Amino acid sequence: MVEVMHDTLGKFADLYGSYWYYIGTAAVGLLVLVLFYRKLTGPKLPPGPFAWPVIGNIPHMGTQPHISLLNLSKKYGPLMYMQLGSVPTIVIQSPEMAKEVLRTQDHIWASRPLTIVGEVFFYDRQDLLFAPIGPLFKLLRRTCVNSLFTPKRIQQFQAVRKEMITLFIQKLLQECKGGKPATVDNMLKETNFNNISKILYGKSYYGLKTKNVDGSLNAREFHEIPELWAKVAGGVIVGDYLPFLRPLDIGGCEALLKTLREEFNVFLTSVIEEHRQRVPAPGTEDFVDVLLTLPADDQGHRLTEIQIKSFLQDLTLGGIDTTTTGIFWPLLQLMRHPEHRKKVQEELDVVVGRDRLVDESDLPRLPYLRATIKEAFRVPTAVPFLAPRESLEACKIAGYDIPKGTRLIVNAYAIHNSPEFWLEPEKFDPDRFLDPKNPVKHDEYKYIPFGGGRRMCPGMDSATLFVESFLARLLHCCDLSLPEGMIPQDVDSGASFGVTLAPTTSLRVIATPRLTLKVYKDAGIAL
Ligand code: HEM
Repeated sequence: MVEVMHDTLGKFADLYGSYWYYIGTAAVGLLVLVLFYRKLTGPKLPPGPFAWPVIGNIPHMGTQPHISLLNLSKKYGPLMYMQLGSVPTIVIQSPEMAKEVLRTQDHIWASRPLTIVGEVFFYDRQDLLFAPIGPLFKLLRRTCVNSLFTPKRIQQFQAVRKEMITLFIQKLLQECKGGKPATVDNMLKETNFNNISKILYGKSYYGLKTKNVDGSLNAREFHEIPELWAKVAGGVIVGDYLPFLRPLDIGGCEALLKTLREEFNVFLTSVIEEHRQRVPAPGTEDFVDVLLTLPADDQGHRLTEIQIKSFLQDLTLGGIDTTTTGIFWPLLQLMRHPEHRKKVQEELDVVVGRDRLVDESDLPRLPYLRATIKEAFRVPTAVPFLAPRESLEACKIAGYDIPKGTRLIVNAYAIHNSPEFWLEPEKFDPDRFLDPKNPVKHDEYKYIPFGGGRRMCPGMDSATLFVESFLARLLHCCDLSLPEGMIPQDVDSGASFGVTLAPTTSLRVIATPRLTLKVYKDAGIAL
């Protein structure tokens, strides 16, 4: 023992006398000085958790980043600074801060960062979702407002919505014949896929109604793309945060994105070719028709074929998963809360009765149904993080310095689920949207399921109309119950993080008809 101590002390004495000791001490001292100097003279950054060398705060995100960040806000407040690998990031988690970046400083925060998905999948950001602020962004946004999501165009697709919803109800009732439960998740996905693809491409590509499936357009491959894309885009792509690792393509995300883009390209090339060879009757144009015939803008800009393809990728991927989730959560909440389901159905019976189908024109007279959907967009929150943004210039928020090029995460989930902004946030309570004494005002930024500012979701009106029409018809046409042995509390409301919050388990229901038989017969729904 004594010998060992002698040996160690001897080694230490050797080191003490060596150059390495002096070099090491000098390096540590210099580092401390640099850090101290930067703290004194550098920007005054918002508070945030300790960042590890190289990886920074990536471990703080965990597997459920929306919840991890909400928990961190309890310690660091609603404006937090984090270093995600090499990416300086601020996280916003209160209505006040959301209003600051989405309204007051919208001109600074409306751009999108360059990410691997934007670069690889969207042909170097030739789409709207990933476009930085600039001429292309303006042209595509204008196209949304003036040509694609106009009230007239949304109205034009009313028949499509009706057809898709009727097919869903028919399939559900058929599957539930004899009191059997049906799993609704895939059926919902198919319905939304068909609705969006009819609006965009003029055809449905999913097997709800097999005669509509067009094998010549790689339909089968096409409907796998959104699912795979959502998995990649909703996860962490290592090269985005640690660029020196990008050549390794850990997890193979970049390779998969390239394959998906090529598959989508084959599909879109054939769709565009087909559309170029036809002249649709006025009032029957789909989005591809509209995009191919757009006149040049004031500066003579016209969309290139790559831009049209990227934009269609956006609309396909941005529309399907979000709307599916947007219908799924209200339905799940109504299965967990039969008392609210009963109230929605009572409202439908009073306003519409049982001798005809509910129509879109009835929706303004169905406030309880609409409040239920709003509440289900709040808890959990279909899109937990708004799409990422980046500051175009250095700015100040709440007295802190935010450097140019800082990444912005707006945690909509946290804003919707914090007890600071909502009374009993975990409680599913549609009435909070109907309280005249305490209205939820749009300009308070307390409720932002579709984002805000100039990047706000362009599909909001169209998606809301579809979700409302869908649930109105479903709950009007069908009584819903749970499989035998299940009680409402057994319905699992677990969700996993991604571009959208996906349910962790399937929803199974038993549907039975509740209107007079003639109504189903007239609507072509076989019982
Ligand atoms: C319930 C359904 C939907 C929800 C909850 C939703 C939510 C959102 C959110 C949160 C954003 C980001 C906004 C921001 O950064 O401030 C967004 C952007 C976007 N959404 Fe939606 N969305 C839905 C349906 C749709 C549909 C049906 C389409 C098109 C067919 C669509 C197309 C887009 C596009 C293109 C953007 C990017 C806009 C931009 O960056 O300028 N969305 N959506």
